[in-house]
Amino acid sequence: MDLENSHILLGVTGGIAAYKSVELLRLLKKAGANVHVAMTDAAQKFVGKTTFEVLSENPVLTDLWKDTHSSVTHIDIANSVDASLVAPATANFIGKLAMGIADDALSTTLLAVTSPIMICPSMNTDMYQNIRVQRNLDILEQDGIHIVDPDAGVLACKTVGTGRLPEPWFIFDRLDALLTKKDLGGRQVLITAGPTIEAIDPVRYISNHSSGKMGYAIARAAEKRGARVTLVTGPVSIDPPVGVECIPVESCDEMADAVFSNLEAADIIIKVAAVADYKPVDPATLKIKKTQNSKNLTISMTENMDILKRIGELKTEKQFLVGFAAETNDLEKHALAKIKKKNLDMIAANLVGSDDSGFKTDTNKVKLFFKDGASKDIPLMDKHKVAHLLLDTIIEQTG
Ligand code: PMT
Repeated sequence: MDLENSHILLGVTGGIAAYKSVELLRLLKKAGANVHVAMTDAAQKFVGKTTFEVLSENPVLTDLWKDTHSSVTHIDIANSVDASLVAPATANFIGKLAMGIADDALSTTLLAVTSPIMICPSMNTDMYQNIRVQRNLDILEQDGIHIVDPDAGVLACKTVGTGRLPEPWFIFDRLDALLTKKDLGGRQVLITAGPTIEAIDPVRYISNHSSGKMGYAIARAAEKRGARVTLVTGPVSIDPPVGVECIPVESCDEMADAVFSNLEAADIIIKVAAVADYKPVDPATLKIKKTQNSKNLTISMTENMDILKRIGELKTEKQFLVGFAAETNDLEKHALAKIKKKNLDMIAANLVGSDDSGFKTDTNKVKLFFKDGASKDIPLMDKHKVAHLLLDTIIEQTG
């Protein structure tokens, strides 16, 4: 199940964080979901129903008596949704849900829902920690309702503590994970992403254009599909994927150390990182100064370890090894040479240097090659979709 074309019930209850639900709705709509919003009376004191109506392009359910003129009744909504999300969920609403009380449009609709329900508690810290609220949350958890824990920080009541509604992108990400099939459950996936940087002196380095987007997209997709993911990442400016163990590194040597410490446990290894092939032989300990007598500076370089090739030598029968090939020309020839030289099960080859594929872009066009010479095209698409198709192929190959 994908959020695209899914049917989602977004419940909004009366907390100050209700304004964040507007952004959440926007993210869901952008992902292609059909969203039905249901609001409690208190929620409407914080944000107007019209905002949700316009953005969702659906009538907003607020009152079972007044809204019965709508062609979509609360039971129709309950039957049609793939998942329901209540954000923010107040202490009062959590109590009603835990006790099975149906005294407004949202609580009544949720009693009729049989698909997964996720709630995002948000309230003052003392209220959140109150034994009765915690007991109700325990009941809901035991009933199979998914709970997104609140963040800690400064709350609207000026208290500092736990109770803040997480950011909309985080809630969106967790709902996406809830709806994603868990076909990598029980598998350990080791991924590398981003560039490495090789020091010339304390202020300068040699690196490349990798943004980390491709590797992070694969890490996110694998986590959502139930894998335990370790991401060894060069320096990038992307938020760490939720639920993924991230190991930040800088140089090829550091990346090698992190990879080999985590190699044994891995079932699937995907090396997306753009590792520098060479490093300065002897990085200066002090900043190299401009000299007046020479216009040229020569930096002596030495070869870095080929991490992927070494994994290819060490890998066991049960491990599936995937390399990436970044090429500017002769994609197939170079990819096939690398799959052989590095003893890979599969290589994902992409052309770099174009506007829509390779480094930094949000999209990629990849050709997968296998040990036996077979190949498979992944046409130009968003890197997140490329990530899922790559994982689909790995699952097909590994059974
Ligand atoms: O990060 P983005 O901006 O999203 O860009 C994505 C990407 C273009 C970086 C990615 O799709 C990609 O192609 N990654 C591989 C980059 C690369 O280093 O390619 P390569 O052909 O030079 O290396 C082949 C393989 O050997 C790679 O899996 C690489 O991780 C590995 N390698 C290379 C050198 C080295 N010393 N050690 C290695 O492990």
